[in-house]
Amino acid sequence: MAEGMQTGFGNHFSTEAVAGALPVGRNSPQHVLFGLYAEQLSGTAFTAPRAENRRSWLYRMRPSVMHPAFRPYPRDTLIRSAPFMEEAATPNRLRWDSMPLPAGEVDFVDGLVTWAGHDGAAVHLYAATTPMVDRAFASADGELLIVPQQGRLLLVTELGRLTVAPLQIAVIPRGCKFRVELPDGSARGYIAENYGAALRLPELGPIGANGLANPRDFETPVAAFEDRDGACEIVHKLAGRLWTTMLDHSPFDVVAWHGNLAPVRYDLTRFNTMGTISFDHPDPSIFTVLTSPSDTPGVANLDFAIFPPRWLVAEDTFRPPWFHRNVMSEFMGLIEGTYDAKSGGFAPGGASLHNCLSAHGPDRESHDRAVAAELTPQRIADTMAFMFETRLPFAPTSHALHSPLLQDDYDACWQGFPKARLP
Ligand SMILES: [Fe+2]
Repeated sequence: MAEGMQTGFGNHFSTEAVAGALPVGRNSPQHVLFGLYAEQLSGTAFTAPRAENRRSWLYRMRPSVMHPAFRPYPRDTLIRSAPFMEEAATPNRLRWDSMPLPAGEVDFVDGLVTWAGHDGAAVHLYAATTPMVDRAFASADGELLIVPQQGRLLLVTELGRLTVAPLQIAVIPRGCKFRVELPDGSARGYIAENYGAALRLPELGPIGANGLANPRDFETPVAAFEDRDGACEIVHKLAGRLWTTMLDHSPFDVVAWHGNLAPVRYDLTRFNTMGTISFDHPDPSIFTVLTSPSDTPGVANLDFAIFPPRWLVAEDTFRPPWFHRNVMSEFMGLIEGTYDAKSGGFAPGGASLHNCLSAHGPDRESHDRAVAAELTPQRIADTMAFMFETRLPFAPTSHALHSPLLQDDYDACWQGFPKARLP
């Protein structure tokens, strides 16, 4: 099956895998060619303002309605959704070692583990060792921002196929069915499930028309379909619970589609990083790739920010992130390399949580090194950390809070700063 890409963010795409399958000029289900069925997939309420409105029309071999009743998913799962009541949102700084791959055969759905969340977003980690076979997954609760850390994912979606590697991300629309195959045999990474307004590019303000993530670097698959009879399980997430039903055919039978609701892939190495060329450094919002705005201007429900390779050239400056207490809450992960505010303990695949107004910043070693540094131009290379930053404090799940991966000595990295010497 072809894996082609269309570029742009929020564009109204038109794509067909069979010539003539996409109607021109009218959506009427009465006029669909080849006996295809027209079906609208909404990403927003029908009446959302035009600039917010997202929907696509799918032209498929069988309508999605043709399925038997859902039953509760019979297997144990560590997936959780709002409301997050298992554990209190904590002011303690938390950090975890990286999650190992499961010992046995576990696919993407059964390898999902919720780590933290609140009413606006959840953070899941995934670790999978076997591809999803004859089953598909969809979340009716939120769009999924997938951040691979190890191993590529082949995402077979209703709207097309896309391979996503570490240093790339994918966003799967809410309700869109997809299957995860593992080209490298296993995979591990992070997911933000966004319950709020759909992710979009941030405003650029005085930066101007160019910079940060550029729209043309976002890739959406062309239509690709499977004409396959045979059993396929649908695992459907709604209000935090998993449900299951069986089809007698592949759900990936969309032959053509048009619209602006679609999976998207972005290569983080294409991010046009901005920073100071004089002194000190801007707030980390300068690294925002995508944002889910809230109803309060300038306050995100969820920001996805990255800390990519870049040059540091500032003069008379403390270059790593400073000590701070942030009104937003920060869940961080590391895709590769070393994060410049931590000298150790924050490993690729690991995670940290600094909730609203919890003090954090450089550890003692990073601080002392930065204070003593000679401020010549410095290349921060071979690194990619990221942050899910949200306006609500994260509550860890019981699994995360009691995981053996939780580091019990994280606070120690900030101990021993000598008291200031007043004149
Ligand atoms: Fe921070």
